[in-house]
Amino acid sequence: MKKGVQIIYSEVALTYDRLNHILTLGLDIIWRKRCARFLRRAPSGRWLDVCSGTGEMLVYLDRIKPQQTTLFAADFSFSMLDISRRRNHAAGIHFCLSDVQRLPFPDNTFSVVLITFATRNIDSNKERLLGYLREFRRVLAPGGLFINLETSQPPVRLIRLLFHAFVRATVRRIGARISGSDAGYAYLAHTIPRFYGAPVLSDIIIEAGFREVSFKRHLFGIAARHTALKSFE
Ligand SMILES: C[S@@+](CC[C@H](N)C(=O)[O-])C[C@H]1O[C@@H](n2cnc3c(N)ncnc32)[C@H](O)[C@@H]1O
Repeated sequence: MKKGVQIIYSEVALTYDRLNHILTLGLDIIWRKRCARFLRRAPSGRWLDVCSGTGEMLVYLDRIKPQQTTLFAADFSFSMLDISRRRNHAAGIHFCLSDVQRLPFPDNTFSVVLITFATRNIDSNKERLLGYLREFRRVLAPGGLFINLETSQPPVRLIRLLFHAFVRATVRRIGARISGSDAGYAYLAHTIPRFYGAPVLSDIIIEAGFREVSFKRHLFGIAARHTALKSFE
């Protein structure tokens, strides 16, 4: 599947940002900005955006990062990373073409590791997802902050059904038309209703070794931002 995901992102890279904004009715921008605002209080140092894609989150991080903070970005799609590298703010960012299952960084390197709208793509199988989360924890320094922003499952059944119906009606159809990749947006539409709800994802993050895990739901729970710490022990 990993190879398939890589191919999908090379197909959709050019239209990826525009489609995100269309399909979420602009909400992803609001959630990203909120996530960046939350990170204003985070410890300075090295911050790593894993599965950084076209680098939209890096734009907001670059605006709010504390002094003496360096941004790093890792993604295994050359096409996505290439768009990120060409953005105006990209000069000071360290880009790394890498599978995030095995990051090319020593233990305890980063004060912040974040992942936005990618967790359900790396692997939703619990055991494999745990492997990725443990890798993110490995490169995070003790006391460092892990952030996960992702689509989620609204806890109220009626809202959940409406959300899934909206995804079924729009993501594949509009995504295929604008990007030209039917397979890409069929896959992305497939992953959204199948991903974990926020409390279950919290338990998985705890099982990966993180502490003080909490989450904030966005818009009735169609997305959620999880935060967690790597403790000093
Ligand atoms: C939905 S995009 C999210 C991009 C970006 N984080 C954002 O917020 O828009 C998912 C990204 O994860 C990357 N990705 C998926 N699996 C990966 C893996 N195992 N290693 C590195 N990158 C991966 C894809 O190449 C793609 O750029």
